[in-house]
Amino acid sequence: MPRGDAICRWGARLTRNRVAATEKDLDERYKVEGRVSRFSGPGTYPHELAVILLFPLRRIVLSPEKLVRHLHLTRTSRVLEVGPGPGFFSVDVAQAITQGLLELVDVQVEMLQKARRRLCRGVRNAGYTHANEVRLPFRSGAFDVVFLVAVLGEVSNAKACLASIAKVLRPGGLLSVAELPGDSDAIIEEHLRTLTQGTGLEFVDSRRVSRGYLASFRREAKNQGTTAAITGADGASDENQNAPRLSCGH
Ligand SMILES: C[S@@+](CC[C@H](N)C(=O)[O-])C[C@H]1O[C@@H](n2cnc3c(N)ncnc32)[C@H](O)[C@@H]1O
Repeated sequence: MPRGDAICRWGARLTRNRVAATEKDLDERYKVEGRVSRFSGPGTYPHELAVILLFPLRRIVLSPEKLVRHLHLTRTSRVLEVGPGPGFFSVDVAQAITQGLLELVDVQVEMLQKARRRLCRGVRNAGYTHANEVRLPFRSGAFDVVFLVAVLGEVSNAKACLASIAKVLRPGGLLSVAELPGDSDAIIEEHLRTLTQGTGLEFVDSRRVSRGYLASFRREAKNQGTTAAITGADGASDENQNAPRLSCGH
């Protein structure tokens, strides 16, 4: 068995054990929100277990450096990370785009707070928006690159999510989707490619990541629009001035 897979299986076992230990405390809350089901099927990864996502051995399966190389960033790239969790990949991406901007969007504000604490130690070019990726509160064409790692399987309507991402990507912009082994709700690549049909995203390439994959798509360049700024002067987009945002000062 490849080393990465063994580690992922071990991590998944550890996760289940930790859930069992904490289930009593969290029972009521999780049953109401249906989040315990995350470990037997689809659902949102609980922010209480974010520490597992920072486990250094994850690097064997997909390191932040490898992901950065795959994203073809320039120093000025405007990048959106959907579902960053506590920011395992975010620091390296932000540091690769010193004159650009990394915007983090997560459905759990607690995950954004954890990511912000990690990034605020040295990163100054990140923004934090609490939103559901199916309705991204950014202007059309606002980003050069969008990436998701181990997120798409948690999303209730993955096709709507991909269409929403296509909209905020500039024409020719890159979408990178990684699905990793050990993730109980990972989407298989063939299904992902089916889901992108009709969304304005064109498949570019894919590479194996242990028993998972890292797939790239480009937003079709037809219907060229103007590239707009990500946000207004106050940090909120015109389309959704009310999208809750965090800053390092919070
Ligand atoms: C398994 S974690 C992966 C975190 C990070 N990408 C990593 O690999 O370390 C999935 C993340 O996606 C977020 N997420 C799930 N559904 C989402 C949605 N509909 N919109 C935005 N974020 C979502 C979760 O809150 C969680 O932070």
